[in-house]
Amino acid sequence: MKSFEFYSPTRVIFGRDAADSIGSVAAAYGKKALLVYGRNSIKKSGLHGRIIKSLTDTGIEVIEHSGVSANPQLSHTLDGAGLAKDAGVDFIIAAGGGSVIDESKGIAVGACTDEDLWKYYARELVIEKALPVLAVQTLPATSSETNQAAVLTNDKTGDKYSIRSPLIVPAVAFLDPVLTFTIPVQYTAYACFDIMTHLLEGYFTTTEKFAPVHDGFVEGMVKAVMKSLEVILEKPDDYDARASVMWAGALAWNGLCNAGLEGASIPCHIIEHPISGLYDIAHGAGLAAVVPAFLRYKKDELSSRILKFGKDVLMMDGRPDCEAVISAYESWIKKIGCPLSMRELGIENPDIDTMTEQAVTLAAQWGASGYNADDFRAVYNSCV
Ligand code: NZQ
Ligand code: ZN
Repeated sequence: MKSFEFYSPTRVIFGRDAADSIGSVAAAYGKKALLVYGRNSIKKSGLHGRIIKSLTDTGIEVIEHSGVSANPQLSHTLDGAGLAKDAGVDFIIAAGGGSVIDESKGIAVGACTDEDLWKYYARELVIEKALPVLAVQTLPATSSETNQAAVLTNDKTGDKYSIRSPLIVPAVAFLDPVLTFTIPVQYTAYACFDIMTHLLEGYFTTTEKFAPVHDGFVEGMVKAVMKSLEVILEKPDDYDARASVMWAGALAWNGLCNAGLEGASIPCHIIEHPISGLYDIAHGAGLAAVVPAFLRYKKDELSSRILKFGKDVLMMDGRPDCEAVISAYESWIKKIGCPLSMRELGIENPDIDTMTEQAVTLAAQWGASGYNADDFRAVYNSCV
């Protein structure tokens, strides 16, 4: 195991009505908040009114920034940062899915600088200051509620980049599984596939020969998400299944599962981000189209890990070969209603040259050695 530092300071408040305590918790962060949210889900569920009441009851002034899109955009984030600066807010409250929390992190950075915000995403500048972010997660998928990352698409160029900094880890995450009952089952499947891929990318790509802590954590969590998703597909308001997915979502990508894991990398995320950046599709759906194609492309190199996944996660009997394991995984992906190709994602003529170019840039930004343009192009071609 490599040496590592693990830093995950988010205070998690989990359970029914968790967000109703936001006023008293937020009072420690100041008197003026920017409430950031998406299009209509938090108004429809009543969460918006509950947050406003809890904050105003505690004497906190609230300014609102709504309309965050799925795959959040730079221009909208800059508007939010301008609003936060002009109003002199003390902290940001993000209420929504990963996109809302990610945009809020960008606003938290943008509100504290006069520099060009995109330069932080292009890794030309290092984040030195950010406002505190409190997150009410309504769509467990990204771990943005507990992690150091935030993804943003530059609406002028289609580049989908990310920032990483301990300064943008949410100070508090409010996780109420009841709020997730309304996520359409189809999107829940995409979200679960994102969680599973966060867990599995390092598991598949590691060169570590002995990693029982990591393997046990990942295998147990992936099986839990698969099992819970199957319950949710039958019964979308099953509290315990929704709660299991919500807790797995918060833990899958907070740095725990790849900490110290030799050789672990995230090629499928590198390959997917250009797809959702250029074609505005759901990130988890894009991953479903990419992961089997990637595993098939790398099956000789990753064979021991793919076979272990077949035996210890998919619980396959006998001695299946890699192709059989990948096919079984594809069958499960199909069963949960996720797409297995770009065509099934609705992308008829993908611009593979641009996606390949963007993936090469991302690999360099994220320090993922071992993959080149030919690798990315081959995977894109095989999932058309
Ligand atoms: O806009 P509203 O009305 O809120 O609707 C949203 C949105 O349309 C809706 N939604 C959210 N909670 C709901 C709900 N609908 C019903 N009931 C609820 N409880 O769902 C739609 C999608 O939301 P979004 O936030 O876009 O989804 P997700 O959480 O999957 O976030 C995706 C974004 O996160 C990035 C992705 O690339 C993508 O941009 N990622 C962020 C990561 C991170 N910060 O570490 C890592 C991930 O790998 C990922 O790249
Ligand atoms: Zn992801």
